[in-house]
Amino acid sequence: MLAFTLWSLGLCNVATAAVTVANQIPLGILSAVSPTATQLAAYNNTVLQPPPVPNPAPATAFTLTLPAASTNVPQGQLSIEIPGSFYGFSIEMSVLTQIFGKNSSFIQVPLLNLFSNIVQRAGSINIRIGGNTQDYAYYVPTLPEDRAISKEKAASKNPTETPAVIYTMDLFYMLSNISAFAGAKWYVGAPFNDSTQFRFEIVEYAEAVLGDSLLGIQVANEPDLYVGHHHRNDSYGPANYTQEFGEFIAAMAGNDNIPIKNKLIGPSVSGNWTPEMVIDTGFIDKYSDSLSAFPSSIIPQSSENCYPVYHISTYHDPQATFPVYLSHSGPQGLVSPYLNAATIARAANKPFLMFETNSASCGGFPGISDSFGATLWALDYGLQMAWGNFSGAMLHVGGQNVYYNPFTAPPTNQSKYFEWTVGAVYYSALVAAEVFGKTNTAQIVDMLGNNASVYTPQYAIHENGALARVGLFNYITDPTGASDYTATLTVSGGTVPSSVQVKYLLSDSVATKNNITWANQTLGTQREVDGRFRGVENVVSISCDTGANTCQIPVQAPSFALVFFTPEAEISTVTFSTTAYTNIGATATVASDVLATSNGMSGNSWQLGSTSNGKQNAAKARADSTSVGPIMGVLVGTGVVLVTSLGYWV
Ligand SMILES: *[C@@H]1O[C@H](CO)[C@@H](O)[C@H](O)[C@H]1NC(C)=O
Ligand SMILES: *[C@@H]1O[C@H](CO)[C@@H](O)[C@H](O)[C@H]1NC(C)=O
Ligand SMILES: *[C@@H]1O[C@H](CO)[C@@H](O)[C@H](O)[C@H]1NC(C)=O
Ligand SMILES: *[C@@H]1O[C@H](CO)[C@@H](O)[C@H](O)[C@H]1NC(C)=O
Ligand SMILES: *[C@@H]1O[C@H](CO)[C@@H](O)[C@H](O)[C@H]1NC(C)=O
Ligand SMILES: *[C@@H]1O[C@H](CO)[C@@H](O)[C@H](O)[C@H]1NC(C)=O
Ligand SMILES: *[C@@H]1O[C@H](CO)[C@@H](O)[C@H](O)[C@H]1NC(C)=O
Ligand SMILES: *[C@@H]1O[C@H](CO)[C@@H](O)[C@H](O)[C@H]1NC(C)=O
Ligand SMILES: *[C@@H]1O[C@H](CO)[C@@H](O)[C@H](O)[C@H]1NC(C)=O
Ligand SMILES: *[C@@H]1O[C@H](CO)[C@@H](O)[C@H](O)[C@H]1NC(C)=O
Ligand SMILES: *[C@@H]1O[C@H](CO)[C@@H](O)[C@H](O)[C@H]1NC(C)=O
Repeated sequence: MLAFTLWSLGLCNVATAAVTVANQIPLGILSAVSPTATQLAAYNNTVLQPPPVPNPAPATAFTLTLPAASTNVPQGQLSIEIPGSFYGFSIEMSVLTQIFGKNSSFIQVPLLNLFSNIVQRAGSINIRIGGNTQDYAYYVPTLPEDRAISKEKAASKNPTETPAVIYTMDLFYMLSNISAFAGAKWYVGAPFNDSTQFRFEIVEYAEAVLGDSLLGIQVANEPDLYVGHHHRNDSYGPANYTQEFGEFIAAMAGNDNIPIKNKLIGPSVSGNWTPEMVIDTGFIDKYSDSLSAFPSSIIPQSSENCYPVYHISTYHDPQATFPVYLSHSGPQGLVSPYLNAATIARAANKPFLMFETNSASCGGFPGISDSFGATLWALDYGLQMAWGNFSGAMLHVGGQNVYYNPFTAPPTNQSKYFEWTVGAVYYSALVAAEVFGKTNTAQIVDMLGNNASVYTPQYAIHENGALARVGLFNYITDPTGASDYTATLTVSGGTVPSSVQVKYLLSDSVATKNNITWANQTLGTQREVDGRFRGVENVVSISCDTGANTCQIPVQAPSFALVFFTPEAEISTVTFSTTAYTNIGATATVASDVLATSNGMSGNSWQLGSTSNGKQNAAKARADSTSVGPIMGVLVGTGVVLVTSLGYWV
């Protein structure tokens, strides 16, 4: 969980203040039949007032001059090459059952769709599993009810009150099956609570089962909070972490079950130590050969909303805080402290990652974290991180008790009645995937046009050395239309095309939460999301004046516009239907040939997939698939059966 701000505030009594996932909101609070009675943060319906139009307001017409060739972008302004999978998700180990499913044969279908949407745009999706709960995690051969993951029942060893996560081998089959269905790649957290006795099973099994889908092993989570969390005594500093990292490498060296030894990631500091403090202990020089990424920092979030739940810090009124999220200066302020460390990582040839982030510590703000304002903010923040030479960032997914989730599964015993909920920042990740695209050559520049107005940030994206796309934000809400702006794009060292394609990310106001559209399509409202887009896609074609070398792009208040200079705006996504509900344990069936065309799918891994089918009743699978067939467009032959979480387990 995003707990570090508490510690950095220096205000917390750790035992009571730590943000944990231990006390997930009891399911019983949410009544199946009266959803309006809920107080669960993930379903909170607080709608704030959009802030007034700023005074002075930014100009509503301005020109951006865009170099056609990357070589003509002013020195030092263009980022390194950014992968389309830049924005991924970070999932706390202890909520995996809720989000992923019960075990490798019961995987949540909406999740696969939500991942697929991004894979289709980005080429892949990166998911980090870990968090505070990774440090005490341990392997067991089996768990009751064939679960892949569970929580220790006994009194916790962990003063954050986070119980140890217990997992079986099936956890890795579950991840592997999600990779097969939806192209996910994984960062997996390794336990680090006891440096005299490392538990390597997670590393061994992740390597054995995930193969190339394993991106890296996170060694320790937020070691800069270990003293505060009583995981180490007061003498523990960056040099101790560096030494223990070395001990981890040494212990791993003799482990024949870990053939690949250079996928380690550290130090994942949360801001209590800076990355430089760890770098200064020789971390990179010593371990360069073992590191797949560095320093994988977890940076402070914009703000914190800890008072309401933990009674620490001070109360921040969401309405008064809202403007903080509606300005380019927020993302700029978050990223600038990391530019130096990113440069050091770059020099060492290690990707610099943001492992866990979101809009505010302690679960986010009602009315902010789940609003269209947060969609724009998180998109700007992601683009700003990319400009600052981060190579990836993971938006954190918590339980039902947070406001900022990119997506929320219904409580397991509610899933018969409700579908999923998609949060505002899911759209940020989705759109970022299109901003960067699939070539892994995207380089981004923060244009700082319009007199660097913080209300109208703009970015240019170059691909394969040439201008490819432009992103235009308007953070202002103004239904009168007076704050809509027109950006005049002109190309230097080249000419504008005869027309450009534009996709708009829209909502009526920065305060809305249920009516966000991307190119006119939406995922739906609370508890109605199955992960597939609804509505007719509308990519706007805007004619340019090639004589004057200008394209005029209208950008309404509020919105984000993505302008494509090259014709690749259309995306078709392979998705999985969840409409084939019957009853408890009902199945939604996915046709193997549909899946075979999805990204991340390799022909021969299919045979593995059908293994889980063996446990299903073949006749039932066929019957169910018939109802899915028309939606999928393909009927099942030897399809894999996935089961949505229909109250089958709790
Ligand atoms: C869901 O589970 C909770 C907690 O176990 C229980 O109190 C509640 O009655 C259940 N609701 C339904 C609809 O089964
Ligand atoms: C939403 O959250 C606010 C602030 O915590 C709370 O006062 C309100 O009751 C919640 N509303 C719902 C419907 O849960
Ligand atoms: C990102 O890296 C590139 C290539 O090294 C460099 O030119 C640029 O200045 C860096 N960007 C920032 C914001 O430091
Ligand atoms: C580390 O975690 C394991 C598994 O939860 C536990 O058995 C062990 O006692 C812990 N060791 C320390 C030193 O905290
Ligand atoms: C998943 O759980 C179901 C229900 O308990 C069980 O039938 C199935 O065998 C389990 N799958 C695995 C791979 O353990
Ligand atoms: C802190 O822990 C280290 C490592 O276990 C130990 O060597 C040291 O003596 C401890 N220091 C104190 C003050 O307890
Ligand atoms: C940290 O390192 C110092 C210096 O080597 C040592 O005295 C101390 O015991 C270490 N602390 C821990 C918790 O390992
Ligand atoms: C540009 O912005 C600066 C500071 O934000 C402001 O003082 C100045 O008046 C602005 N210039 C124009 C032409 O708007
Ligand atoms: C949803 O948003 C679209 C685009 O901004 C707008 O045209 C429509 O009126 C909105 N619908 C509702 C119900 O607010
Ligand atoms: C946008 O989507 C709506 C609802 O799906 C549809 O009725 C409308 O025609 C679409 N607009 C455009 C311009 O495609
Ligand atoms: C899916 O999980 C099953 C275990 O239930 C495993 O045997 C199979 O290899 C997995 N399929 C893929 C494609 O990873």
